[in-house]
Amino acid sequence: MPNMRVHRVVARSRSKGVSEMPPEEIKGAVRKAYAKVATAQRCCCNTSCCDEPRMGKSADRAKRYGYDTKGLPKSVTGFFDGCGNPLYLSDIREGETVLDLGSGAGLDVFMAAKRVGAEGRVIGVDMTPEMIEKAKANAQKLGVKNVEFRLGDLEDVPIDDGSVDVVISNCVMNLVPDKQKAFREAYRVLRPGGRMFVSDTVLEGALSKRVRESIKAYTGCVSGAMEEGPYLQTIRDAGFADVKVMGRSKLSRHVASVKINALKPTK
Ligand SMILES: C[S@@+](CC[C@H](N)C(=O)[O-])C[C@H]1O[C@@H](n2cnc3c(N)ncnc32)[C@H](O)[C@@H]1O
Repeated sequence: MPNMRVHRVVARSRSKGVSEMPPEEIKGAVRKAYAKVATAQRCCCNTSCCDEPRMGKSADRAKRYGYDTKGLPKSVTGFFDGCGNPLYLSDIREGETVLDLGSGAGLDVFMAAKRVGAEGRVIGVDMTPEMIEKAKANAQKLGVKNVEFRLGDLEDVPIDDGSVDVVISNCVMNLVPDKQKAFREAYRVLRPGGRMFVSDTVLEGALSKRVRESIKAYTGCVSGAMEEGPYLQTIRDAGFADVKVMGRSKLSRHVASVKINALKPTK
């Protein structure tokens, strides 16, 4: 979730503006920020979407978003970096295959793994090698067998067409330079009739030029976010139907978190 310390850090930063950076350079900065998060002693502030001063520590935030974190180690809950709970009130059924786009340290993957049971499967994809290593170590620690973590970019997801029942994602799409491509990928990997549950940041009002151009604000889930209307349209343009906002909470003056459900039509 968005880091409000970002606004103070931004004021001191003199790096190249986001609009001058090619997409690969932006992704490089995002990868670097989240590698730092994954290898830190504890999650997360100043580099990531975490907003510790306002929302409390990662584990507390997860509880507040409705996660049942009992029995999970700090290496999972303490590295939760989402801005909502895409699984909350979502119909994930036993035996289903779930894909988590931008899986981080794995909290949503482990939660979904409980829901799909031994006959189901949950795959997490993330482009930061250190995050994938952390999530794999967490899976081993928990002894969870029905999960898998793959290194990959959301603009080119390493998953077969039509092979998953449910796509979830938590505070990640805002970090992807080509959101249209990423949502098309989500659509491609879903089977017809498959569902998507996303929590993400959206903008409410205009950011100052300084924040808009700041790569720290970008990696902090602020300046890469879109306004809600165009964001929903991007999901529809990727082919999704029944695109609905299921919840919204204000995170700061210009940033809100939204929970969105969408469907891949059967025809
Ligand atoms: C704010 S964290 C959220 C992590 C996790 N979903 C959670 O709730 O804790 C964003 C994650 O998305 C990953 N990410 C960002 N852009 C990505 C991209 N283009 N492809 C794959 N992963 C990406 C980062 O490496 C990071 O682990």
